[in-house]
Amino acid sequence: MIQTTSTVQPAAPAPQIFEAAVSTDWRQALPVLAGTMVTLRELRLSDAPSLLVMLSTEEVARFISPPPTTVDGFERFIAWTHRERAAGNYVCFGVVPHGMDTAIGIFQVRQLEPGFGTAEWGFAIGSEFWGTGGFMDGAKMVVDFAFDVIGTHRLEARAAVANGRGNGALRKVGALQEGILRKSFLRNGEYLDQTLWTILDEDWRRSKSVWGTRVH
Ligand SMILES: CC(C)(COP(=O)(O)OP(=O)(O)OC[C@H]1O[C@@H](n2cnc3c(N)ncnc32)[C@H](O)[C@@H]1OP(=O)(O)O)[C@@H](O)C(=O)NCCC(=O)NCCS
Repeated sequence: MIQTTSTVQPAAPAPQIFEAAVSTDWRQALPVLAGTMVTLRELRLSDAPSLLVMLSTEEVARFISPPPTTVDGFERFIAWTHRERAAGNYVCFGVVPHGMDTAIGIFQVRQLEPGFGTAEWGFAIGSEFWGTGGFMDGAKMVVDFAFDVIGTHRLEARAAVANGRGNGALRKVGALQEGILRKSFLRNGEYLDQTLWTILDEDWRRSKSVWGTRVH
């Protein structure tokens, strides 16, 4: 059982975005996904300064692959995300809280096999926005997008075992812990153990039907 009503936030009304998204070829351009707290959209070069401030702090970067260290570096990363999306390998959504214009975090999904049947997601958000609900709001839209639009059936995530917040976020979103990948992530010269978390499309749809019927 990957998800229970006790660990999942009550669902907000489903955003009316997916019909539009399905008819759009995400390889041409990502749709804009509107949640209750944040909007997810394609990264823009103008997000680079904000992403540098948000994602290059020690607390955010501690357990993830080192982010760029300059605005130029983030601009190159953003251009790379566009190329990889156009090639059909990867998508990266910027997280923009309602009332703001620039991205304060990212959700990434990359294919682990051709066609995205098995894919991996990852995420990072500026620490001043931790605990605000923006993660959960964005995560639901990204997982929906992976299963409903990209055609993923198994979505994996890896989080360093020592990353309490990253593991807490994955547990909260309903991922199932499948095992420990021993010394699988090199960070600051040290190999760290990672937890492998997965969500299957069928489990996600079953969980959503529970959210949908919940009275609150
Ligand atoms: C991962 C991330 C996007 C999650 O966003 P967030 O806003 O912090 O997430 P939330 O606060 O909604 O959820 C985190 C959960 O973990 C829990 N948590 C926090 N510290 C924890 C710890 N040490 N052990 C266990 N759970 C913990 C929180 O209490 C929260 O659960 P709750 O809402 O039920 O109380 C954000 O923390 C981040 O960007 N971290 C840095 C980058 C990163 O590590 N990315 C993940 C790589 S897998």
